[in-house]
Amino acid sequence: MCGIVGIAGTRDVAPVILEALKRLEYRGYDSAGIATLDHGAIDRRRAPGKLNMLGAMLHDRPLHGHTGIGHTRWATHGAPTEANAHPHATAQVAIVHNGIIENFRELNAELTAKGHKFESETDSETAAHLVTQLMSEGLAPDAAAKKAVARLTGAYSIAMIFKDHDGLLVGARRGAPLAVGYADTEAYIGSDAFALAPFTKKVSYLEEGDVVVIRGAQVTIFDGEGRPANREIKITSASAALVDKAGHSHFMVKEIHEQPEVVGHTLAHYLDPAGPDVRRQGKGLRDALVKASRLTISGCGTAYYAGLVGKYWFEKLARMSVETDVASELRYRDPVYPENGVALFVSQSGETADTLAALRDSKAKGQTTIAVVNVAESSIAREADIVLPTYAGPEIGVASTKAFTCQLAALACFAIAAAEARRTISKGEEKVLCASLLEAPRHIAEFLKQEPAIKILGEEIAKVRDVLYMGRGASYPLALEGALKLKEISYIHAEGYAAGEMKHGPIALIDEAVPIIVIAPHDAHFEKTISNMQEVMARGGKVLLISDKAGIAKAGKVWASIEVPTTNSFITPLINAIPVQLLAYYAAIAKGTDVDQPRNLAKSVTVE
Ligand code: G6P
Repeated sequence: MCGIVGIAGTRDVAPVILEALKRLEYRGYDSAGIATLDHGAIDRRRAPGKLNMLGAMLHDRPLHGHTGIGHTRWATHGAPTEANAHPHATAQVAIVHNGIIENFRELNAELTAKGHKFESETDSETAAHLVTQLMSEGLAPDAAAKKAVARLTGAYSIAMIFKDHDGLLVGARRGAPLAVGYADTEAYIGSDAFALAPFTKKVSYLEEGDVVVIRGAQVTIFDGEGRPANREIKITSASAALVDKAGHSHFMVKEIHEQPEVVGHTLAHYLDPAGPDVRRQGKGLRDALVKASRLTISGCGTAYYAGLVGKYWFEKLARMSVETDVASELRYRDPVYPENGVALFVSQSGETADTLAALRDSKAKGQTTIAVVNVAESSIAREADIVLPTYAGPEIGVASTKAFTCQLAALACFAIAAAEARRTISKGEEKVLCASLLEAPRHIAEFLKQEPAIKILGEEIAKVRDVLYMGRGASYPLALEGALKLKEISYIHAEGYAAGEMKHGPIALIDEAVPIIVIAPHDAHFEKTISNMQEVMARGGKVLLISDKAGIAKAGKVWASIEVPTTNSFITPLINAIPVQLLAYYAAIAKGTDVDQPRNLAKSVTVE
């Protein structure tokens, strides 16, 4: 998603903005630009493609000035060209924008009638012209900015600089996050605290409808009604350390390797190894779980698949009635929420627009909302009634890996906590489940030693056009996640199916050219899944089986197999996530794709 950086500074800011934009690269983008005030005049450089293109342009034609804004754009309205790249500017104002201005067509018509000429296909340029128009009617820049943002509908965050107003920076938030950074002689605006971390640890977060006016180091925030507002200044935990790959060739594989550690951190938050048992939850959460008439689980992409695994756990262990849906559907289908219902949202970034909207809707409809979220200062974390944090650390690779397994770890602990609160498992069962979870980091670390063998299989997968994944029970969401991972980064067409559904259609696709990745832990569903696998093999299907020692021995001859450690079946989704991640990674490497920033994808999707 688009990234924003703004600096009211005391030095040439363009190089500094460029560095800050690099920290937002993980969000995904396809063009970038910077504007500064050079002796009061707006000057800008914009380039399609990655930041090195903008960097090269700045090298040839540097930008001067102490006040500036920068942007990485993930195209929504208009292709990723230089003309559509931000900042958008008139002679009076330059703006950068994240999100969508829904009423831009009407506003453009109105402004065109007043003589404004638009140079891009974007909705964002509208804001620059609207501010310019209001200034031409006599308003001061900050007043014009406030009046303009009040006229914009949609979900967005925005930052602006103004001709002849060195040191003046205006930002606004509605629907998409914006952080303000504080220092002695400078002040900053950024899409997240991570972008601002090299400058300052002191940040505040704008709330919905807020406008911030920065003059030099002086920061004033106004609420949606235009009243001065106090927004708490926090010391952010975002690390200023240069994001580096720690010797790995990509962030994604670094993050795959971090999983034993971060899953361990997440488990340590929820489990007491002395029991072992789940740390007892606060009264609010416990009461909600005991009374819960239904649990609704939602999220987007990988986070949704983590929630789907959670469904199996909550039903089996806590005997809860569970409904699941992707957030983009849940928010619009007018779901019937029960009295005393609990709605649980899963999100790495905590900023996904659809997930946030679904959370707000369920809250408005009387549900107790719970968020499993990786970014503690995010909108979803701030708005949920109860937050269950994951401790994956910053995830930079666009394709989610360590956030997924940490979400599974938190959900597994929470399912046990729910079962304990509802008295649907015995103390002894709780101990067994917790002990098996605590072993997960060790098993993941052990499995990672097989990376060289999986690399070879990934290279085989890279040669094909289509891949099917299948699984049953909690392995079904893993099949969906495996297929998503492969298509995201290798661009190979892949689909995940419930094993029992294969014969209701997908089996028609089977021939020697379509590998089928079967996720079949040696559990209660094993025999059934293996029957489905045999049906596929009888039709010439080339099976890659992911199972443990006993499962592989029983399944008989297959094209290839990946042996995962033998564990309690409860934790197999956490273990089986690793081979599907590595297969996708090595298939993508063999194909030479941009693994960390795959085409068309964004890390944090702050538009609907
Ligand atoms: C994007 C990312 C996915 C992620 C999804 C949900 O599509 O590319 O990797 O699973 O958003 O993101 P969230 O931050 O809410 O987990």
